[in-house]
Amino acid sequence: MIRLTIPSIEDDDVMAVQEVLRSGYLVQGPRVAAFEQAIMAYLGMSHVIAVSNCTAALHLALLALDVRPGDLVLVATYSFVATANVIELCGAQPVFVDVRPDTFNMDPAQLAQTLERLMSNATTAQRVKAILPVHTFGQMADMPAILEIASRYGTPVIEDAACALGATCLGKQAGSWGTMGCFSFHPRKAITTGEGGLITTDSPVLARKLRALRNHGQDPEAKSPDFVLPGFNYRMTEFQAALGLTQMTKLDRIIAARRQGAAVYARLLHGTALQPPAQLPGYDPVYQSYVVLLPEAVAPRRAEIIAQLRVQGIETNIGTWHMPLTTYFRTRYGYRPGDFPVSDAIFARALTLPLYETLTPADQQKVVDLLLQQVH
Ligand SMILES: Cc1ncc(COP(=O)(O)O)c(C=O)c1O
Repeated sequence: MIRLTIPSIEDDDVMAVQEVLRSGYLVQGPRVAAFEQAIMAYLGMSHVIAVSNCTAALHLALLALDVRPGDLVLVATYSFVATANVIELCGAQPVFVDVRPDTFNMDPAQLAQTLERLMSNATTAQRVKAILPVHTFGQMADMPAILEIASRYGTPVIEDAACALGATCLGKQAGSWGTMGCFSFHPRKAITTGEGGLITTDSPVLARKLRALRNHGQDPEAKSPDFVLPGFNYRMTEFQAALGLTQMTKLDRIIAARRQGAAVYARLLHGTALQPPAQLPGYDPVYQSYVVLLPEAVAPRRAEIIAQLRVQGIETNIGTWHMPLTTYFRTRYGYRPGDFPVSDAIFARALTLPLYETLTPADQQKVVDLLLQQVH
């Protein structure tokens, strides 16, 4: 079976985890601090707060901005449901913004229109608390445009960079643009800690609050233990962080391999009916997922194509989720097909192809040959 993805776990990763397990010191400690330092150095950020997963990271980022019941958070439509779920879990309401057809990322024109509409009404204006763009599949959203629009109203921006460690726009790292950035280390990401996540920020005030929120509300700077707000246990373990540290030494190598694999797919798909992901000037994606668009006429057969390819030993999948049309958001807010036309089309046509560090060009040729047989 050519799998959709395989994490790059090697002997040094296994040994690092074993060493922690034998040490008997398992929860957040020096290795978590060292992992945070490694990410700080990589991204050039002043504060990194490791947590148990990216859903926790997003949840805490919203809480750190005091997102409360009744508030509004503008969020891209096309993402894993965690991105919008955390808004609901704060009691706030997501205001969905459709994406661009070429990058699958929040469309700045739609954002500007939606934000202007909300801000021109005094009641909704005071409820708007944040903008939450996603760097979908490891391709950065148009952060220069999004930040410019946000700055018109002083609205904070939280980057959902779950899939985008190492991705850049104009040479600047994902997670270093907004007020906060949230990352995932789930096994489908370039590097993994099993489950795992973190938040980046340059604000010492937010960093202190985030550290308290992840650890039962304990003030990280108090001389003797003190609990200053109601917090969670969203800590990362020492063995996750040990794995993160060895994985970090491979990050550049893994990203280079994924970019090479993406270039091979782009060559194989050139001139076919399949639309490869956009490669925009100034953007260096990390291809957390390699997602192509099937021709419109073929999209209704996507589930059958995925099943057929599986029988032929190739694992593929849909892209990600049209969040407003999932049962929860559809029934709660009454969204219908047509409300977000670009997401409607992408959600129907997207297909994720296998991509991981050790995937060979011969494997990729096989994936494309068999897929094209299904498409024609
Ligand atoms: C865009 C996006 N945001 C958030 C998450 C949630 O990450 P985690 O699984 O680490 O909680 C994911 C997970 O795949 C994701 O793809």
